Amino acid sequence: TRCAFEVAGRDLGMGVTYLDPGSSQMGKKESIADTARVLGRMYDGIEYRGFSQDIVDELAKYAGVPVWNGLTDQFHPTQMLADLLTMEEKFGRLKGLNFTFMGDARNNMGNSLMVACAKMGINFMACAPKEQWLVDEATKIAEENDCTVRLTEDVNEGAENADVIYTDIWVSMGEPDEVWDTRIRLLKKYQVNAAIMAKTNPGSVFMHCLPSFHDTKTTIGTQIAEKFGITEMEVTDEVFESKKSIVFDEAENRMHTIKAVIYATLS
Ligand code: NVA
Repeated sequence: TRCAFEVAGRDLGMGVTYLDPGSSQMGKKESIADTARVLGRMYDGIEYRGFSQDIVDELAKYAGVPVWNGLTDQFHPTQMLADLLTMEEKFGRLKGLNFTFMGDARNNMGNSLMVACAKMGINFMACAPKEQWLVDEATKIAEENDCTVRLTEDVNEGAENADVIYTDIWVSMGEPDEVWDTRIRLLKKYQVNAAIMAKTNPGSVFMHCLPSFHDTKTTIGTQIAEKFGITEMEVTDEVFESKKSIVFDEAENRMHTIKAVIYATLS
């Protein structure tokens, strides 16, 4: 996300400053409201990527310039634009597509995808433990756009008739390492594998916001393999590397869509 914002900003002729958690006093020695007012006097826009949704809301309230949500614990809106563009490129339409999110649907990606699909007339299915909030609100939006929001814990039902299978990592940014154990046990039946993809519609695609644990070529992937004996998590390497996988088109579209958001909000 940071790279997408930086490249997009520079392509638009903007100057870009990166403030990492260690080099800012935000929330430590200076309140969010004060930081927002200081930055808003110097910058034309602020992207915030962090844990709490409250922080980005507070920044937006006080900054006086556009504040772009680069990801919080509740939502990931800029990812939605990239995902929708990628689906439209692939299928030539959005309305009426059948979209299934498999795995950790109660997180930022599950929330945002459910709302984004409902808004765009895409039938959304969460194939996951039934813990999701926002379902009532998303269902109302879906009714206005002639599509559905459904939840199932049955992977066959989730895969059948799907045009898009989407998944995300099982432990998100800001969550402690201790949750891996319970998360693996809870979510392993929702792993996207070749058997699941075989049940989907012809022409279906696999999508993922990344990063992904589809092999052991990462520090965490190696540690999980040693501790729990699994070498792939939310998606198998076979599916991730298959022709159906459009994950890197999605990644590229992060930059194009973020560039559009910056341009639209500053012009
Ligand atoms: N749910 C993931 C999304 C990463 C783009 C996370 O919050 O880490």
